[in-house]
Amino acid sequence: MNSDEILLGVNIDHVATLRQTRYRETVRTSGTFVEPDPVFAALVAEQAGADQITVHPREDARHIQREDVLRLREAIKTRLNMEMACTQDMADFALKVKPDCVCIVPENRTEVTTEGGLDVITHFDRVRDVVQEMNSEGIKVSLFIDPDPEHIESSAELEADMVELHTGAFANHYYDVQSDIELDKLSMAAKQAHNLGLTVNAGHGINYVNIREILQIPHLHELNIGHSIISRAVISGLDEAVREMLFKIRGH
Ligand code: PXP
Repeated sequence: MNSDEILLGVNIDHVATLRQTRYRETVRTSGTFVEPDPVFAALVAEQAGADQITVHPREDARHIQREDVLRLREAIKTRLNMEMACTQDMADFALKVKPDCVCIVPENRTEVTTEGGLDVITHFDRVRDVVQEMNSEGIKVSLFIDPDPEHIESSAELEADMVELHTGAFANHYYDVQSDIELDKLSMAAKQAHNLGLTVNAGHGINYVNIREILQIPHLHELNIGHSIISRAVISGLDEAVREMLFKIRGH
């Protein structure tokens, strides 16, 4: 890999989402982990070349479980990026897990997925405490923010290592006239963050179509992608899965 190549973090939460729809009560049956196991998915993603595994243990534990995160920490050989709400409970859990980095995200229990960037201006003091707590344990901190100049300025003041630019608005407007405006905002934000010494990552809603424009954003270090990769895997893996079951049933 060239040092200027953009890295890929694969978010495996949706593997756990699928498991939880069926096996909410337990992650184990008969001594083995029930399928699909997000840790196994992480190992496959690593084998395919992923540079980082990303998980977001939510306060309501709706998909990835804390036990999964602890198992991932033991099992994976690349980096573990833990997205977390800016709460003391999550900070304490991060200090227990010791991921390579945390990405602080806003969290609203009623949202389906993370909807907007973290408001690092309103929550400046709280975010600063968590940044310092993580840094004191050698855990790098990324802040998931909208591509907004003031939030980038505050992220630099907070002495975060990285920002993850929220690409959701661009993705949502991909097929309308607003998309160029959103892409410009992301490019300007990336330049500003880079000039302030912040590592620039991006994520949310990136897929196999809009990746073309996303790659026009300057200074990108790493992309975190979940939904589209797991969705693609479900479809592209289905052919083999059906054939394998037919072979078990019919022997050919
Ligand atoms: N980055 C952050 C901070 C996120 O909250 C999410 C969604 O969990 C992602 C990246 C991945 O987004 P998607 O699943 O849309 O690829």
